[in-house]
Amino acid sequence: MPPETDAAFTFTDLTTDDLARVRDLVETVWFSVTPGKTLEDLDEQVDLSHARGVVRTGGPLPGEADEGGAAPLMAFYSAFDMGLTAPGPGDALTRVPMDGLTFVSVHPDARRRGVLRAMMTDHLHRVHERGECAIAGLHASETAIYGRFGYGCASVEAKLTLGRGTELRAPAPLAAEADGVSTHVVTVDSEAALAVLHEAHLACAGVTLGAVTRPEALAQRWFAFRDHPQARGSKEPQRLLVARRDGQVSGYAVFRRESKWEDGKPAGEVTVGELGATDDATLLALARRLVDLDLTARTTFWSRPTDDPVAWWTGGPRGADVQLFDALWIRLVDLPRALTERGYADGSPLDLVLEVTDEVCPWNAGRWRLRIDADGRAEVSASDADPDLETPVAALGAAYLGGRTLLSQAATLGVTERTPGALRRLSRALRADRDPVPAIGF
Ligand SMILES: CC(C)(COP(=O)(O)OP(=O)(O)OC[C@H]1O[C@@H](n2cnc3c(N)ncnc32)[C@H](O)[C@@H]1OP(=O)(O)O)[C@@H](O)C(=O)NCCC(=O)NCCS
Repeated sequence: MPPETDAAFTFTDLTTDDLARVRDLVETVWFSVTPGKTLEDLDEQVDLSHARGVVRTGGPLPGEADEGGAAPLMAFYSAFDMGLTAPGPGDALTRVPMDGLTFVSVHPDARRRGVLRAMMTDHLHRVHERGECAIAGLHASETAIYGRFGYGCASVEAKLTLGRGTELRAPAPLAAEADGVSTHVVTVDSEAALAVLHEAHLACAGVTLGAVTRPEALAQRWFAFRDHPQARGSKEPQRLLVARRDGQVSGYAVFRRESKWEDGKPAGEVTVGELGATDDATLLALARRLVDLDLTARTTFWSRPTDDPVAWWTGGPRGADVQLFDALWIRLVDLPRALTERGYADGSPLDLVLEVTDEVCPWNAGRWRLRIDADGRAEVSASDADPDLETPVAALGAAYLGGRTLLSQAATLGVTERTPGALRRLSRALRADRDPVPAIGF
């Protein structure tokens, strides 16, 4: 445990023998039980090689031990190996590895004693030691938690709600192209359907800024543990809407309808959890089908970007009843590598020194010279020169996907300019052409 933590708790590595303890803790912390979910299901849902548990240092309190005498877990986290589509040099995009933190859970008896802080430090130091990912990402259960650990909110999720039959008005050539896109529905319950889903997921993520991809090892099982038949109850299973252009998969949507009748009239609800497209015509074709399903009254699209054409095809945010949420929080774990892995706007070479503060990952703290060439490629090296900008590491996480500007972080996270114009120039270099999509749920 790092020195600042409560000595009453100790980290422990976990094996499959600990899954019952993981389940007990997670059900206590999230007060949610999935009927019919087995320990085998849970085993497939967590990557124990990236997970850690926390127990009481002095052993269980009276009455706490399970039937076998094992002490309960007092905290737990797990993580996935994922991929993230970041801005590439110029107008390109690039895929970078991302460690996706999940299942962060502290027992109600252990809360507010520094256990989360210890877990975040443990997690980020281990990601750094493993060396596979220069960045880490997560979805926050509450907005106030993760900034203190160096995370910045890098993408914003728009939720759109469209009434059945909403007209999506697109330019005529695009609408004509959309007419040439074929779509068909399959149920997400067979290996073949999941293989098509994963193929579409990867194809769309490759050309979509901000897209996060599922780990290869979990691609076949991901929807099984998120759509457990007993937990689903009377709702229909997840359906997959696949789009094809010239025989090639060009997009997909994962959705579910809920049957409802009001005063004898059909009022079903459609919820679209994932929607991806390799081109705008495919997006239009998918959205048009999803707002025109029989026996429904409205379609909710979760996880859309803030500049989503679907919202603008309705006329704008009011036409789509847009609501906004923070989406992916990004944390630079290996700062020089993270800033080199993504690309920058082309045409404006830049050479400046950043002074970075980072309490949780001290290897990132200090002065870094960032040189961006005319093509938008960067080199980063340690420097002794006077800084042009001072920034907390969280501001670089917030600006990492190019959707939120570094300039705006001056007001919210405290970026300070030492050389006039340096903040605006770097902010422009970091900015992407489109807003990033929010990450899939993980
Ligand atoms: C959120 C949770 C993980 C916090 O764990 P914890 O061990 O109590 O947190 P710590 O004691 O280490 O707190 C670290 C810091 O975060 C702050 N903090 C913790 N939870 C917070 C919350 N929900 N909102 C705002 N601040 C919070 C603490 O005040 C503390 O602040 P400090 O650095 O200024 O001292 C725990 O309450 C929990 O498991 N909640 C339910 C599940 C959940 O929301 N998990 C997060 C999933 S993304």
